[in-house]
Amino acid sequence: MNRRELLQGLAIGGGAALLSGGVVGAKGLAAEESGRKPKRTARLAHFTDIHLYGKRSSAEGLTQALRHAQALDDPPELIINGGDAIYDALEVDRAALQAQWGLWNSVWKQESSLPVKHVIGNHDVWGWNKKSGTTGKEAGWGKQQALEQHELPRGYHRFDLGGWRFLVLDSITADEETVYRGELDAEQLQWLKNELKSAPPRMPIALVSHIPIVTVAMLEFEEHLKEDPRKRKMLSHQDARTLIHLFRQHPNVKLCLSGHTHLTERVSFSGIDFVNSGAVSGLWWKGDHYHTDEGYNVVDLFDDGTFATEYVSYGWTVG
Ligand SMILES: [Fe+2]
Repeated sequence: MNRRELLQGLAIGGGAALLSGGVVGAKGLAAEESGRKPKRTARLAHFTDIHLYGKRSSAEGLTQALRHAQALDDPPELIINGGDAIYDALEVDRAALQAQWGLWNSVWKQESSLPVKHVIGNHDVWGWNKKSGTTGKEAGWGKQQALEQHELPRGYHRFDLGGWRFLVLDSITADEETVYRGELDAEQLQWLKNELKSAPPRMPIALVSHIPIVTVAMLEFEEHLKEDPRKRKMLSHQDARTLIHLFRQHPNVKLCLSGHTHLTERVSFSGIDFVNSGAVSGLWWKGDHYHTDEGYNVVDLFDDGTFATEYVSYGWTVG
C-alpha cells in the first residue's frame, strides 16, 4: 500500500480514529490543571490552495474533496478556505477572472452545505501583475473582487468556534519588486494587537493566514530562491519576528494555520505550532507537490487549548 492509499483508507475508515493519536499542541489550560481528559469541542477542515479554473478537471477535484470531507464518519462542522481559491487573478483580464469566480460559486453551491470562512490568497488579488493588462481603475480591481465574492468587508476578521477564537489575517501586501510579499500593514497589525488584548485571556487563539508566518519550505524552493533571493519576500511573512514577539505576550495563542507553499509541515517554535495544510490542488492540479498529496487538513479543537491535525488525501489522481 502506498502512502496515498494508506491515507485514503484511514480517512474513509473513520476520522475520529485517525485523529485520536494526533500530536497535540503544548500547554493545555483547564484540563491540565484539573487532571481531566480534554474534551473535543469542534472539528474543522482547512481547505487551502484550491486554485479552481476551467482546466485540468479542477472542478471535479474540488467536488471530490468536498464530498470526501462531508462523508467522513466524523465530518467537520466548518470549512476554512485558506486562500488561492481560484487559479489566478493576478495576471488575467476581467473575463478570465469572472469565469473562475463563476466556477467557484457553482461548485460550492452544489457540493457543500457547510459554513465556510474565507482567507485571501495572493492569487485571489486581481490585476496586480502587469501581465493582466489592467489599469487599476477597474471596478473590483485588487482585493475588492475577492472580498465581494466572499462577502467580506476586509481581508482580516475573526470568528469563534468550539470555545476557540480564530483571527484570520490578510497576508498579502503589494510589493514593487515581487508583486506581493507576506506582511500585515500598520492598520491590520493594530487590529491584531487589539484583538489579542481584548480576547478572554484563557480562550485559546488560532491565527489563520494564507502565507505562512514560520515555514521551512525554503528547503524545497532553494533553487528558485538562489536565482532570485527577492522571492523570499513572497514565501513567508516578512514581519514574522514582530508577530512572534507579539504572540509571546499572549500565551493563549496556540496555533497558526497557513497554506501558500502547497506543502504540509508542522513547526513548533516559541510555544506555538505553525501548521501548513498542503493544497487541495496539490501541484496546481498536476499531481503531488514533493511530499504533499492533494488533500485537506482536518483540525480538532479541544477545550484545554490543545488541538490535533491530520492531513487527509481525498484520492485525487491526475487523469
Ligand atoms: Fe497557491
